[in-house]
Amino acid sequence: MDQKLAGKTALVTGASSGQGAAEASLFAQAGARVILSDIADEAGEAQAQAIRDGGGEAQYRHLDVASEDEWANVIDGIATDFGALNILVNNAGVPLRGGSVTNTKLEDWNRLLSINLTGPFLGIRTAAPLIRDSGGGAIVNTGSIAGLTGHFATAYSTSKWGIRGITKSAAMELVDWNIRVNAVHPGLVHTPLVEESVDFVQALADQTPMERGASSEEIAKVVLFLACDDSGYITGHDIAVDGGFTDIGGYWRVLKQVMAQPDQNI
Ligand SMILES: NC(=O)c1ccc[n+]([C@@H]2O[C@H](COP(=O)([O-])OP(=O)(O)OC[C@H]3O[C@@H](n4cnc5c(N)ncnc54)[C@H](O)[C@@H]3O)[C@@H](O)[C@H]2O)c1
Repeated sequence: MDQKLAGKTALVTGASSGQGAAEASLFAQAGARVILSDIADEAGEAQAQAIRDGGGEAQYRHLDVASEDEWANVIDGIATDFGALNILVNNAGVPLRGGSVTNTKLEDWNRLLSINLTGPFLGIRTAAPLIRDSGGGAIVNTGSIAGLTGHFATAYSTSKWGIRGITKSAAMELVDWNIRVNAVHPGLVHTPLVEESVDFVQALADQTPMERGASSEEIAKVVLFLACDDSGYITGHDIAVDGGFTDIGGYWRVLKQVMAQPDQNI
C-alpha cells in the first residue's frame, strides 16, 4: 500500500481492540512507526507483535488516558526513545449502558468523562508540544454519532459532543504550530464495545441507510486520511462515518415508510 505515513511516528490510544487496533495496523502498513497504548496490556502487546510479525514497526506502552501522570510518562518516553511524534489518535473510549439522565450515578458520569473527554484533552495538551517540535502533524479525535445527534445515554453523548468542542478549539489554537486537529464520528461499528448490546446493534443497523454497521477497518481508513497529508488543508472538521445515519437518515426513514405503502403518494 501507499507509504502515506513513511517516516512518521504515531501514537494510538485504546489500540488493544476494535478501531484502535485496526488504525495501528493500517498506520504501520502505511509506513508509520506506531506506538499502541491501552490499559489492556496483554492484548496490546499481542497487537503490536502481530504488526511486527507482518513487517511493520510497532511498540506497546501502557497508558490509562484518564491519568495525567501516565500521559506525561508516555510522551516523555516517546521523546526520549524516538525523538519525534507526528500523529496522535485519541481513540480510547468506553460506553455506559442504560445511562439515562435520571439514573446515572455521579461516579459513573465522572469516570466516563475522565476517559472519553478528559483523556483526549490530556492527550492533546501533553503531546502537542512534541508534535510541534517534530515539525507539526495531525491529531484525530474519535467522537460518535452520539455527539452529532441527540442520544439517550447522557454521559456518553455529552462526552462525544465535548469531542467536537475540543477538536475545534484545539484546531484553532494549534494551527500556528502546524498541527491539524479533526474528529471522526463513527456510527455503528462491530467491535467489543457494542457486542453485548444485541438489540441496540440490530435496531441501529436497521435504521441506517446502508442497513449495516461498519468494520473497524472502514473507520481506520478515514482516520488514516485525516492523519496523512491527503487531508493537509482540513482542520477543525467533524467527519461522520456512519452509513448515512446523520446526514440522510431522517428522510431516508420517511422515504422508506412511504415507499412501503401500496399506493405511494409522495
Ligand atoms: N463501536 C461503535 O459502535 C462505536 C461507535 C461510535 C464511536 N465509538 C468510539 O470508538 C472508540 C473505539 O471504540 P471501539 O468500538 O473500538 O471499542 P473497543 O471496546 O473495541 O476498544 C476500546 C479500547 O479502549 C480501551 N480503553 C478503555 N478504557 C481506557 C482507558 N482508561 N485508557 C486507555 N484505553 C482504554 C479498551 O481497553 C479497548 O481496548 C471509542 O472512543 C468509542 O466511543 C465506537
